[in-house]
Amino acid sequence: MLVLGIETSCDETAAAVVRGGRTVLSNVVWSQVRVHAPYGGVVPELASRAHVRNIATVVDLALRRAGLGLEAIDAVAATRGPGLVGSLLVGLEFAKSLAFARRLPLIAVHHIAAHLYSPFLSPRAEAHEVMAIDAAGGPLEIHEPSGDGDATTRDRYRAPRPRYPYLGLAVSGGHSSLARVEAPGRCRTLGETRDDAVGEAYDKVAKLLGLDYPGGPVLDRLAREGDPTAIRFPRPLSKQKTLDFSFSGLKTAVLLHVEKVGLESIREDRKRLCDLAASFQAAVIDSLLAKTRVALERERLDSLAVVGGVACNSGLRKALRAMKRRAARAGGAEAEDVLGPKRLWIPPTVLCTDNAAMIAGLAHHLASGSGPRHNDLTLNADPGWPLEDKAAGAS
Ligand code: KG4
Ligand code: ZN
Repeated sequence: MLVLGIETSCDETAAAVVRGGRTVLSNVVWSQVRVHAPYGGVVPELASRAHVRNIATVVDLALRRAGLGLEAIDAVAATRGPGLVGSLLVGLEFAKSLAFARRLPLIAVHHIAAHLYSPFLSPRAEAHEVMAIDAAGGPLEIHEPSGDGDATTRDRYRAPRPRYPYLGLAVSGGHSSLARVEAPGRCRTLGETRDDAVGEAYDKVAKLLGLDYPGGPVLDRLAREGDPTAIRFPRPLSKQKTLDFSFSGLKTAVLLHVEKVGLESIREDRKRLCDLAASFQAAVIDSLLAKTRVALERERLDSLAVVGGVACNSGLRKALRAMKRRAARAGGAEAEDVLGPKRLWIPPTVLCTDNAAMIAGLAHHLASGSGPRHNDLTLNADPGWPLEDKAAGAS
């Protein structure tokens, strides 16, 4: 089955064609990052307008890149929620129009359930494009994939996929949650952030340091040169039993530190800036890993998938791999600091950030399994769509 997927939940206009729920034939992402950069965060109104401007081009490009016409497509899928309502509506209505015109099944997909499905995708090396526009919606730039050094395409095809059930850690600009994944799209939230999402904390900390947007990749690069023990930032909720996260206290702790030391003296001294980035990142990673360990143990799961934009973070990727190695060496010992997954999946970075391949991939299972179909052309976007909703996953 060939599915055309469309994703417009936030600030990426994306379309992809995926065969059999797994093979990514094309994956086009039109990033609006330069539209929002001057504001240090996503401006919803501007995001909707940019989606309207770009959606037709992006879908057309995804089909052309896959070497297919619309007549070859078996189903159209779009993100229904969660996300910014004005952004979601653009992709969903575009998908509805295509489904109506071509008499195709329409499949509504849950954005987080799709992120949690992303480890199952096998990208063809030539399938990826990331595009950027300037603030005026100007010239189209096409960036061909550079490869992110995770594995060769061949390895990815051969690589075993997660077996259900597994633990999913979804970390991005809009959400931070731990979920038990039972089947494609069938997930149960175990814990989530009580305030800021992790990526949001990265972006806000970068903003208060006067760094570029999005802040995650910038702080990640600086952190590589810094000392993670230089400043002891808090690890909120780490002593409590809950699987929830909290990042706003950490952000405030960074703000207080900056006020104490002085922004200029940090910005003028590269070592200070790198130490601060590394110390902030260490607090984030510790918090994420601590709750992940508890969730693995409590749910008796030994497989972990880490997905979403923040899963691109080099420090987090390294720490997760180290956690897995330590757990393997400890061979089932129960001490808290050696707990970890037996199996770990972190998708290539191009599939961690928002994309439509994950939407098309999950839609394959929702359409071909016994789960619900969404041919209903009155379907509306749902900005707060709960992950547990039965309509979100295959039964
Ligand atoms: O999944 P995503 O593309 O969009 C949402 O659904 O939110 O995630 C975007 C977020 C941004 O907050 C960005 O700063 C963060 O992911 N991010 C990173 C890195 N790359 C992207 N955070 C930390 N380290 C990175 N390398
Ligand atoms: Zn996302």
